[in-house]
Amino acid sequence: MTDGDDLLQLALGAYAEGDLDSAEQHLRALVVLQPENAELRHALGQLLLHRGQAEEAAVCFQTAVDLNPVALPYLYDLALAQAEAGRYAEASGPLYQCLGIDPAYPGAKLALACVDAAQRRYDSARERFKEAFADEPDAPAACHAWVERLLQQGQAGEAFFVLELALAAAPNDRPLRELQRSLQTQTVDFGQTLTVDATPAKLRRVVIEVTTWCNLDCPGCFRTQSIAAGHWTNKHIAPETFAKIVANLPPCRQGVLHGIGEPTMHPRYLELVEIAKASGRFDSLVCNTNAQARNIDFYRAVIEKGLDFFQVSVDSLTPEVAAVTRAGTDVEKLRRNLAEFHRLGLPFSVQMVISRLNYDDIDLTLRALDAMGPCTVNIQPFVDSDATHNALSKDMAARFLDKIRHLAGQMVNLNINAGGFYHFGINRREPYVPLCTSPWFDPAVNVDGFMMPCCMHWDPQTLGHSNLSETSFAQAFGSQPVQAFLDGYMRTSPNFCARCSENVRCLAAGNG
Ligand SMILES: C[S@@+](CC[C@H](N)C(=O)[O-])C[C@H]1O[C@@H](n2cnc3c(N)ncnc32)[C@H](O)[C@@H]1O
Ligand code: SF4
Repeated sequence: MTDGDDLLQLALGAYAEGDLDSAEQHLRALVVLQPENAELRHALGQLLLHRGQAEEAAVCFQTAVDLNPVALPYLYDLALAQAEAGRYAEASGPLYQCLGIDPAYPGAKLALACVDAAQRRYDSARERFKEAFADEPDAPAACHAWVERLLQQGQAGEAFFVLELALAAAPNDRPLRELQRSLQTQTVDFGQTLTVDATPAKLRRVVIEVTTWCNLDCPGCFRTQSIAAGHWTNKHIAPETFAKIVANLPPCRQGVLHGIGEPTMHPRYLELVEIAKASGRFDSLVCNTNAQARNIDFYRAVIEKGLDFFQVSVDSLTPEVAAVTRAGTDVEKLRRNLAEFHRLGLPFSVQMVISRLNYDDIDLTLRALDAMGPCTVNIQPFVDSDATHNALSKDMAARFLDKIRHLAGQMVNLNINAGGFYHFGINRREPYVPLCTSPWFDPAVNVDGFMMPCCMHWDPQTLGHSNLSETSFAQAFGSQPVQAFLDGYMRTSPNFCARCSENVRCLAAGNG
């Protein structure tokens, strides 16, 4: 036997006994002896990949490919190692080469689908998964293995998208469904693990709709649209009902004292703030307001009673634009009030909604706000709640975020946050969370006390008319209708999430 044969026997023996250190040592020695032997490079690469050294494995596979560019296992393993190293874009190359030589090479179509999904190339991933599931009998098992590998490497976001897009092609594959569910239930958000049937110890945010009255007719608002459709009731919450709701809540980081409607129109709003403050339930209390219904003294009083800050909704300070975004706004009065809030040093920020209607005017508004003094401006995407189609497209949203980054650098006084757009995948949430956790941590309560899964959706039927003025949050959360909703929510996004900019799962469904 040659030295090489001896070494190979030693390497194989060590590998069989699980002594990977010795096996690697012998293989490396062999590679030095026979540098042109592609098969040895390939074997060493496989060993390294097995040991989790994806970068080094990729180097070995690349050399093997250079030595023999038509050996399909080399190309396939090179792609695998590159993907494991997180270099998805590069991994597509060897897979294309592999499929170019043998369009039916086992696992290659599926691998290309996974690589596309991990890069969030939604359209092509969806198509490739369809093909792989149709042509390759082992595709679901291989997909399972891909997801497991990604998870082991801490690439939970990529694993999630591989699963979402694979399931779009094979919705009934039970092992993939179960894997998705286990991935979701391991989700940690807001410091808590998401458990379907365990009541959260603390809530992140609770929105309580104190009134459904309003003094404006913003065309994009759910209230305005519901009035037009003939199903809206104007109503103030009774302070007694409000107190019962508050008493039934667990501790919350933030209490939001407005729903759909202008909170300051509630004739006993100061009392409500006092009740919420005295309950000790909330780390902080806030509300949004159009700053059109009350005088400055009211806002001073609201802060004295315990509101920590308020957010003034300003979509534009140009009268023509305000007339179409926030109809009924007296822009002069809005400017005066903002100036007064500054002068009195009241704790407030500005809440802006960006749509096609104020897209071109946003620079002007931000510059005007900047000239008024130091202020935080939170910009959130407009959500089409009917067929207005005024929400930004993905391209516009990307351009908008660029524009804001550029503008933020020019502002002297403004601290600008442009959130959301997670449904387009262009403004990634960090740390990555595979699904919106609002139904666990951000419930809303309507003016009648009915609990909602989030503040985007106001149908009491969704959670079986669970009423927080009559029952504790824990009881409501554990009830059959709420559990059934959460169970379904784990499986797929409900229809009302379709246009929400917080919905990362929109991507797999077709938004990308
Ligand atoms: C419904 S309002 C209630 C509070 C108060 N009336 C106000 O306008 O500030 C709460 C927030 O939702 C925003 N909003 C209304 N319609 C929206 C939509 N279609 N998409 C996104 N945000 C919207 C408003 O601009 C406001 O900042
Ligand atoms: S002011 Fe607020 S509640 Fe009133 S219509 Fe506008 S967005 Fe809706």
